[in-house]
Amino acid sequence: RRVVVLISGNGSNLQALIEAQEHDRLGGEIAAVVSNQPDAYGLKRARDAGIDAVALPHREYESREAFDGALIKVIERHEPDLVILAGFMRILTPRFVQRFLGRMLNIHPSLLPAYQGLHTHARALADGVTEHGCSVHFVTEELDGGPVALQAVVKVDSTDSEDSLKDKVQAREHLILPIAVNWFLEGRLKLSGDTVTMDGTPL
Ligand code: GRF
Repeated sequence: RRVVVLISGNGSNLQALIEAQEHDRLGGEIAAVVSNQPDAYGLKRARDAGIDAVALPHREYESREAFDGALIKVIERHEPDLVILAGFMRILTPRFVQRFLGRMLNIHPSLLPAYQGLHTHARALADGVTEHGCSVHFVTEELDGGPVALQAVVKVDSTDSEDSLKDKVQAREHLILPIAVNWFLEGRLKLSGDTVTMDGTPL
């Protein structure tokens, strides 16, 4: 089985996927990594691992539709079973989302449905929540609104800063993303309508 990973930056979640693949825990192969930011460090991580690394700068396209059309072409060249958004900081068009519906996962740094969107750690701290975390979810047209497949919870300490909280959450992201990908590639995790099922049981 094959996956394509979309990134925009550091690629620490990509690194977790690469390491899972190297330890035969992914259940598939990372066929390509695509970044809309040509200088993303994650592209170097991909190249270092011998993975096809593609820069597709969104600025070179005149519209979101044109960029997404080009992105679909690059992705489909690799015939992936799954598309993974791992820190991909672009809003996708409905056409793109429909094309990969049920076979596209995103990692989001909050306990969805809480804190959709950006600056999740700062907002969680400002609210004084005692628990925060991250979610892997299927991507649907509602931004960060698709059905959740897997979450990890972290405790928020009174001493936490935005940076310390981000570090704690990211460590959990690196654990749960490869697990969810593995479950999907083994055919255990599925999107059916609005519901995620695991081994046939609705979550
Ligand atoms: C992660 O925190 C992810 O949840 C968010 O963007 C960040 C990407 O980090 N969507 P990295 O590029 O994987 O290091």
